[in-house]
Amino acid sequence: MPAEFFETLSNNAIPPIYRFFNGKDWVESTSGNRIAIQSPVDGSVVGEIQVVTPSEIDEALTRNVDAQKKWEATPLNVRVKIVHLAADWVMHYLDYLAVLLAREVGKTISEAKSEIKRTAELTDYFADEVQSIRGETLDSDNFPGYDKGRIAVIERVAHGVVLAIAPFNYPVNLAGSKIAPALLMGNSVVFKPPTQGCISGLHLTRIFQKAGVPEGVISCLTGGGQEIGSYLVSHPKVTMVAFTGSSDTGMAIARIAPMKPLLFECGGNNATIVFPDADMNLTATEIIKGGFSYAGQRCTAIKYVMGTQGVLDQLLPVVLKEMEETTNLAGPVITVQVAENIEKIIKDSVAQGAKVAVGGHRKDAYIEPTILTHVTPSMNIVSTEVFGPVISFIAVGDMDEAANIVNGQRFGLQACVFTKDEGTGLKYAKLLDVGTVQINGSPQRGPDHFPFLGVKQSGVGVQGVRYSLEAMSRIKPVVINKPQ
Ligand code: G3H
Repeated sequence: MPAEFFETLSNNAIPPIYRFFNGKDWVESTSGNRIAIQSPVDGSVVGEIQVVTPSEIDEALTRNVDAQKKWEATPLNVRVKIVHLAADWVMHYLDYLAVLLAREVGKTISEAKSEIKRTAELTDYFADEVQSIRGETLDSDNFPGYDKGRIAVIERVAHGVVLAIAPFNYPVNLAGSKIAPALLMGNSVVFKPPTQGCISGLHLTRIFQKAGVPEGVISCLTGGGQEIGSYLVSHPKVTMVAFTGSSDTGMAIARIAPMKPLLFECGGNNATIVFPDADMNLTATEIIKGGFSYAGQRCTAIKYVMGTQGVLDQLLPVVLKEMEETTNLAGPVITVQVAENIEKIIKDSVAQGAKVAVGGHRKDAYIEPTILTHVTPSMNIVSTEVFGPVISFIAVGDMDEAANIVNGQRFGLQACVFTKDEGTGLKYAKLLDVGTVQINGSPQRGPDHFPFLGVKQSGVGVQGVRYSLEAMSRIKPVVINKPQ
């Protein structure tokens, strides 16, 4: 059954050669260039993907532009049905997609299943929520000097062609979180999947196509970011860019997409601040979950923990004990090369005075879940986003010092505060220059209808179901002048 459903995606070779979707057909690129996708789990080749050419990008985007107005004019209830059907297909192929995703990006089967299921649920939620998006009218006489002689009818309209760029850590979910709202608001979509995660992204595209997204309304263009990224982002036919990935790439994209609306979720080095009255067991559990799930490869992962020396002395043994009692704490990181870089950052930190409380070693793409103590805020391990299972403990004199450390970072995604007094947590949250503060819980994007945003170099715009629908559209006022 999956083989039939997904038959157009690849040839039947082992490993398969995957095609790209030009908006109309699944085809091989005339470039003849392909990238082999290796599993971080065992190094085996999952398949080869196409590297598309600039003229293939032009052709797909021309289709995207030509199809968009008709798609926007399609009744919303029809678009909603198509998107709901896509969510149903995602759930229908849950097991098949989870096995593929686990192999392609190194998630455990349960992490992969949770990503696929979350994508279906999110897609359904978008399709429900879009039906309550309304325009409004405004009267003119509120403003001094105006009588009732004008009325503004304010509608929500599509941007046009949305370029959706998804990252390797959630190649299905963070693709769906862009594609679904873009389509529902009447945009056409050019989807650029991550290189690692591309095969899963191609499957998601096929699902939207099968669900009834018309020709030209979605295309999926594959290839390395280095090869096709700049051409796509700066293409005049792309009218909006929705991107999740590193802050450096986000800033590079922003430089070559002048005047285009942007919706970016970028890096984070999220802090945990532990007050003396915190529940140490809860704090330890949340630190372990927040720092090590999916091997720390989440923009919302906990990267450093701060408290007074006394608090850290109480907390560390609780964390170490719980780690010891937990099996399968972390899988591989995305490539061996990434793992080598993380190993180097750990070694550099130790050379600068940090101490390894647990972990610190690497085997192939696997980094042992690591806790470093005696870390100082100026070390690279704190100020850069280390996309791996490494948590740094930093001793501070007081909580104001901790807030200053958070506010001095280039990132501002999330932070979490542990205290039994929620009033203290609320008051303290106001001091922190980050998108979201979690009180007594680790940083996370979900539930997915909550607003999700980063400040400073962590992002642009706000995501979350309603917020993403709004971001994927703009208001268009039409003013009726009616002399009194
Ligand atoms: O990596 C970025 C994701 O948006 C984080 O999502 O908090 O659900 O893992 P998550």
